Amino acid sequence: MMKSEVKTSLLDNMIGVGDSVLLEPLTEDTFLENLKNRFDHSEIYTYIGSVVISVNPYRQLPIYTPEKVEEYRNRNFYELSPHIYALADEAYRSLRDQDKDQCILITGESGAGKTEASKLVMSYVAAVCGKGAEVNQVKEQLLQSNPVLEAFGNAKTMRNDNSSRFGKYMDIEFDFKGDPLGGVISNYLLEKSRVVKQPRGERNFHIFYQLLSGGSEDLLKQLKLEREFNQYNYLCLDSAKVNGVDDAANFRTVKNAMQIVGFMDDEVELVLEVVAAVLKLGNIEFKPESRVNGLDESRIQDKNELKEICELLGQDQAVLERAFSFRTVEAKQEKVSTTLNVAQAYYARDALAKNLYNRLFTWLVNRINESIKAQTKVRKKVMGVLDIYGFEIFENNSFEQFIINYCNEKLQQIFIELTLKEEQEEYIKEGIEWTHIEYFNNAIICELIENNTNGILAMLDEECLRPGTVTDETFLEKLNQICAVHERFESRMSKSSRFLNDTTLPHNCFRIQHYAGKVMYHVEGFVDKNNDLLYRDLSQAMWKTNHVLVKALFPEGNPAKMSLKRPPTAGSQFKASVATLMKNLQTKNPNYIRCIKPNDQKTPHVFTEALVRHQVRYLGLMENVRVRRAGYAFKQPYESCLERYKMLCSQTWPHWRQGARDGVKVLLTELQIPPEEFSYGRSKIFIRNPRTLFELEDLRKRRLEDLATLIQKIYRGWKCRTHFLLMKKSQITISAWTKRHFQRKKYLHLKSVTLIIQSYIRGWKARKLLRELKYQKLCEESATTIAAYWRGFQARRELKRLKEEARRKHAVAVIWAYWLGLKVRREYRKFFRANAGRKIYEFIVQRIMQKYFLELKKKLPSMSPTETTWPARPYLFLDNTHTELKRIFHLWRCKKYRDQFTAQKRAIFEEKLEASELFKDKKALYANSVCQPFQGDYLEISKNPKYQKLTGAVEEKILLADVVNKINRANGKGAPRIFLLTQSNFFIADQKSGQIKSTIPVMDITSVSVSKQTDGLFAVHLKEGSTAAAKGDFLFTSDRLIEIITKLYRTIFFKTNQKINVEINNEFLVQFNQDKVCVKFIQGAQKNGNLPACKRKNNRLLEVTVP
Ligand SMILES: Nc1ncnc2c1ncn2[C@@H]1O[C@H](COP(=O)(O)OP(=O)(O)O)[C@@H](O)[C@H]1O
Ligand SMILES: [Mg+2]
Repeated sequence: MMKSEVKTSLLDNMIGVGDSVLLEPLTEDTFLENLKNRFDHSEIYTYIGSVVISVNPYRQLPIYTPEKVEEYRNRNFYELSPHIYALADEAYRSLRDQDKDQCILITGESGAGKTEASKLVMSYVAAVCGKGAEVNQVKEQLLQSNPVLEAFGNAKTMRNDNSSRFGKYMDIEFDFKGDPLGGVISNYLLEKSRVVKQPRGERNFHIFYQLLSGGSEDLLKQLKLEREFNQYNYLCLDSAKVNGVDDAANFRTVKNAMQIVGFMDDEVELVLEVVAAVLKLGNIEFKPESRVNGLDESRIQDKNELKEICELLGQDQAVLERAFSFRTVEAKQEKVSTTLNVAQAYYARDALAKNLYNRLFTWLVNRINESIKAQTKVRKKVMGVLDIYGFEIFENNSFEQFIINYCNEKLQQIFIELTLKEEQEEYIKEGIEWTHIEYFNNAIICELIENNTNGILAMLDEECLRPGTVTDETFLEKLNQICAVHERFESRMSKSSRFLNDTTLPHNCFRIQHYAGKVMYHVEGFVDKNNDLLYRDLSQAMWKTNHVLVKALFPEGNPAKMSLKRPPTAGSQFKASVATLMKNLQTKNPNYIRCIKPNDQKTPHVFTEALVRHQVRYLGLMENVRVRRAGYAFKQPYESCLERYKMLCSQTWPHWRQGARDGVKVLLTELQIPPEEFSYGRSKIFIRNPRTLFELEDLRKRRLEDLATLIQKIYRGWKCRTHFLLMKKSQITISAWTKRHFQRKKYLHLKSVTLIIQSYIRGWKARKLLRELKYQKLCEESATTIAAYWRGFQARRELKRLKEEARRKHAVAVIWAYWLGLKVRREYRKFFRANAGRKIYEFIVQRIMQKYFLELKKKLPSMSPTETTWPARPYLFLDNTHTELKRIFHLWRCKKYRDQFTAQKRAIFEEKLEASELFKDKKALYANSVCQPFQGDYLEISKNPKYQKLTGAVEEKILLADVVNKINRANGKGAPRIFLLTQSNFFIADQKSGQIKSTIPVMDITSVSVSKQTDGLFAVHLKEGSTAAAKGDFLFTSDRLIEIITKLYRTIFFKTNQKINVEINNEFLVQFNQDKVCVKFIQGAQKNGNLPACKRKNNRLLEVTVP
């Protein structure tokens, strides 16, 4: 308490005057000078009483840190230098502690800092109110609703790079402890015309640019979008990029915020699809087409865009296309369809885009409300924050500006009413004499706009509903008739020719003198925008989509719910919602933040005096100060006044036991302040002149120093005394402890001495007794020992005697046995020597043989004829027997093996045997053939349907069929042929067709020649003069040479009973036609695998290269 008293006040270290009410002298110039002075020192906030004036710094100031929040937390409004936090804190505390619902009204021009101010208030409240996981989530959701709404509802304008294009009122709800429970957002009139057209230098809503810059490639592809802004007619191109704004990063922020607020992933997807569809709608273009009946029609120029939109929205293309070409009007029972011309088609397209976007925005607000709404039903305290579009004066002002400015008029009015009324009521309540202060009351302008019978909005509605041709011009005419005499309305056309000569006012315009200045409105578009018409065909088409979100946005498209009643006009809707808002605000305790724009260039450190002067004037700030100062510049409850200044008077310092009011009276009387300088209200003291307050402050500062010395003095005295008392107490304690200690030591010594003496005496007595007992025991033990020794001696003597007796008996038995043996041996010696030697020998040999056979039986080798092992011979004398046994066993085992052969297997072996006799050790190829079974028919010739013809031609049994390479006699090249052998012929046939090329009877074969190598080349020599030998001998190659020749050999033998000659040599002669040609085998590099390469060298020589 003391600390804060000493340190801080609004009046400490003040730059200029923190509260303009204290300005001396008070003029507009000093007021502005004060604002400028403070602005130049980075003090952007100044009070008028409890109203906060905020001058936009256009730069980041270090005054929004968590430390600042702590500083302002729970402090009185005037305690610290002016800050928006002080206002937020005041509002929050009076909500929490006094149970008063609050509203924060933020007003000012576009770009003056309203939206920023509202966010600062929200973040401050979020920082100081309750904590905990649940509460934090509520706070986070409330705060994160801002980026989402800003992305969809804000845009860059000439005035502000992040201008809110919708009005927003947010109720934050708290429980009785002051913890946030949730919130409700209301939105007012989104400036949807911006979707299809933006003034020069301005942009469309942020979300379009954010989506194109920040969306991933996949996302854009999914939404059928291109990344370049210039692909889209709806995006104004000359200012697509805003300095210092990173659209891509903002896109991520927005997506993240949507997630925190509670949007599902598929909801975000739906929203982005609608955004993409709106963007693409702008690219649909129409071309005129004349019809025979003279009516104009329009056609869509390029249907691709339309197709993509329909795909995005799940829409039937034909339905949408029809909605862009026709308009159906329904009246009672009738339905009339008319075609749309190009202009109408464009109008329809833009209307659809605007409606789609506007409805999406409203849906977003509702969706956010659903997430942030309070979950409990308990009674809530409410803090409303109003951030509505600021007063706007553009070059070309249309319906939107009219509406926005109307809203600002209403807010100004509520400000005037509440501040002036409040002030006035306070004076009356406090019983202070009150003189009326003049100020401009803008009720008259509100009247001009909203009067139910002849207000501008009412007339616009009337015009919109009137049958017959209605245009913006007829509306203006009507205004001219009815409002001409109104002092705040100006128009060239008005009959009372007040403005007839005003050339600055064009004919299609009217001008209103708003509280904030004159604004000229172009009537163009007023009727349309007020009607806000969307052709029914379009809303029905939209309702028919498969897109859940779009369908929900157009409920009136449902034919079942169709009504012929007109929807309320945009103007009347807005008027109604503003009226509701005003009523709502009036039930709450207002807190004002009045934002001022220091320059038009959005730059820091620039304070354009004229601009600010204008704002100060129309905001009525001077009147505000004057009202606050009317008579009394400063007021304060008695309690706080006494608390702050009580040290200035000995009677009230340090404690005043009676009422605060009397205390203040005593105080002021003793300070000898002239009585005309102040007035006593019922609960507050009113100070007339700021100077008096400053004097009081000066006195207080000086007195505080004296008091500090006094406090120091007393404190030091107190500290010394306490120290002394402590020392004294300690000394007594220490001596008590010392005395106790010595007494205790003495006692313990005496005790131990006594104990020692006692123990010596007891010991002596015990030892004496022990000695006597020991002697007695010794006597008893001696008698027992003597008896034991005597008995032992007797026992040992007896044992010795018995042992001697046993020894003697044993000796007698041994001697007797020896004697008996001697007698027997003497008697039988003569019988034993004659036969024993031979018998023993025979017996031993028999035993050995028996053992040998048994062991051999166990060790017999396997029954395989190829087995060569035989157990080792155990005895030398059995050498011959052992060898003989081995031979017999082998013969027997071979017989056993042969016995199991079938006739077929036998034939195979005979063939193999034949092959071995022919080629073993003669031709190198033989070794490979040993393990190959001779299969004979390799082509499965009788089963293969391909060779049906061939087998039909050959009658006998087929012994061998295989594909061989026939060597051409002329050039040595090979060609595959079927080689077929039967009992009397062999055939050569074509491999593919099975056509027989040659038939050779085996009897005509004289011999066969092969090389010694591993190659498969063989020659078949034929009998000279036989028919087969017409062309000469045959040359073949085959991997199965061994088998083929063996079979051929055996077949011939069976047929003729003659053995043909098989020549095995590396050089042999063959007969070709008339020539005898030498076939010569030479070693060479391997070319094509194992096949020999033949080359006809000349008439006499064929060279075969073998590996
Ligand atoms: N207190 C502030 N501190 C720093 N910059 C501010 C502050 N208030 C406003 N601004 C700047 O001014 C711009 C416009 O403010 P904004 O609140 O959007 O205006 P309004 O809502 O009144 O149209 C902001 O984007 C910001 O750059
Ligand atoms: Mg704003």
